[in-house]
Order: sequence, then structure tokens, then C-alpha cells
Amino acid sequence: MTARATALPHSRLRSSGGTPIVGTVTRGTTNPNRLRRMDRWIVATHGAELRRADEPLAVDLGYGAAPWTAVELLERLRSVAPHARVVGVEIEPARVAAALPYEREGLVFRHGGFEIPVPQRPSLIRAANVLRQYDEAQVAEVWARLCGRLAPAGGGSRGGLLVEGTCDEIGRRHVWVALGPEGPRTVTFAARLGSLERPSDLAERLPKALIHRNVPGEPVHSFLRDFDRAWAAAAPYASYGARQRWIRAVRDLTADWPVVDGPARWRQGEVTVEWGALAPLG
Ligand SMILES: C[S@@+](CC[C@H](N)C(=O)[O-])C[C@H]1O[C@@H](n2cnc3c(N)ncnc32)[C@H](O)[C@@H]1O
Repeated sequence: MTARATALPHSRLRSSGGTPIVGTVTRGTTNPNRLRRMDRWIVATHGAELRRADEPLAVDLGYGAAPWTAVELLERLRSVAPHARVVGVEIEPARVAAALPYEREGLVFRHGGFEIPVPQRPSLIRAANVLRQYDEAQVAEVWARLCGRLAPAGGGSRGGLLVEGTCDEIGRRHVWVALGPEGPRTVTFAARLGSLERPSDLAERLPKALIHRNVPGEPVHSFLRDFDRAWAAAAPYASYGARQRWIRAVRDLTADWPVVDGPARWRQGEVTVEWGALAPLG
């Protein structure tokens, strides 16, 4: 067990090139296939951007005690962008050493932190279950730093994407924020629907920026309350399965909340909402 992260820049570590490493070692818990929902969403929503990049580079930041999520990310990105490459970046040196035997064409592992030790500005930075162990007050600074490393927008491209979020140990419940070079864009809720009693079960997996804001008066609390109400109203659809009930509930939500996706994603047990509607109040 390692210490909870407390301040930035925090580490006295330096990369082999001498650059200060930004961040703090935290618990390395991971599991094979844990991030499948996030990977699926990235492929569906960001695949075209990855395909159009000359050299699509993705960073799996804080891949943990074993490199599975980075290996899987490469495989899934290559299904839509055959030239995609992945760099796994981990702040704990022993975890980098343990990952090296898994390097392959298109996949390398590097010691580093939020400074993102890659020469090229990535098309994707994925940070899953990393910020959860930092303080809420650190999130804005980390987001700004990571967004500043993304490939810029221009020439018809919206630029790179940062996907930052949290899930349970086996990836049944997942919530993440997607950010572009300009800042936060959306929040996605994704679940194995059979595992949910109600949508607000996902509250326990809210990303760090939102988890302490699930209190009355905050937008994310109102959203989950409305989602539970819509879910209750959609109870008759349960006889057709949890998926039909979810689709019906999300359709109702669209009357009051800026849902940005449609039935093709809802069918996967997902819904994506504009960040601005859920952002904490001050
Ligand atoms: C809970 S594990 C998550 C592993 C994997 N991403 C997953 O979701 O299964 C968090 C990992 O992030 C690493 N970490 C924490 N802060 C970091 C930073 N600033 N840069 C790189 N890695 C970091 C920790 O050392 C730890 O191995």
C-alpha cells in the first residue's frame, strides 16, 4: 500500500532523461478487461480522429501493477486505427520494469507522470483510476496540465482527447470525463445494466471532480436524482430487459438534460451528457 497523493508537483523522482516526474505513486490495482467499456467508447467516439492523425499516439497513464490495460488499449485502437501506438506511462519504477517484457510493435512502457514523457503530443491520454487517489483540489491543475499535452485542434480536427475516470474492480460500473485541448467536454456513465438496481448506483464511481459533489444543490446530484426517477417511471419496460428500461429512462432524461449521444450508445448501457450541465458549482 502506498501513500495517498497530496500535492503537485510532488515527486522528487526524475525520468532517465532528467525531467522531473509529476505526481505520486498510488495503489496499483488493475484487472484484465477492466476498462473495456471505456475502450469501447473511445473507439466509437474518437476512432475517426485517431484514424486521421498521421501518427496516432495514445498514452495509458497510470496503467498499474500489470500492463493489461495498455495491451488491450493497443488492440482495441488498432481495430479502428491500424497505425495507432500506445505508450504506457507509470510513476512507479518497479511497475515499469515488470511491464517491459510485454513491449511489442506499437507498445512501449515509460517511467513518468503527469508531465507525459513522450516527444509527440498524443491523440489520446487515458487516465483510469488514477486521480481517484488524489485530492479533489488537485484535479483542475492535473486536467490543465494533461489537456496542455494533447494534440492541438486545427485543420478540421478537434484535437486530442483526455479520458479520465473511475470504475469498479471488474469494470461493471464506470464514469468518466472526456476533455479536449480546450477543457472538459462530456461525462459518460456506463454500466453492466444487470448489475444496477438504479442509475445512482453509479455515484460510487464518479470521477474525483464529481464524487464529492453528489450532494443536494449540486448538478450531478440533481442529475442522478432525475435519472433514478426516470428509471422508476420506466419500470414497465423491465419485462423487455434492463437494456430497454435504460433506453426508455435515458430518452426521458433528454427532456431536461443535454444528452449528447443516441440509442446506439444507450443500448450499450451508456449515456453521455455535456460537462457544463454537471460541472460543480464553484
Ligand atoms: C489504481 S491503478 C490503475 C491501473 C489501471 N489504470 C486501471 O484502471 O486498472 C493507479 C496507478 O496510477 C499510477 N499513478 C498515480 N499517479 C500517477 C502519475 N502522476 N503518473 C503516472 N502514474 C501514476 C499509480 O502508481 C498506480 O499504479
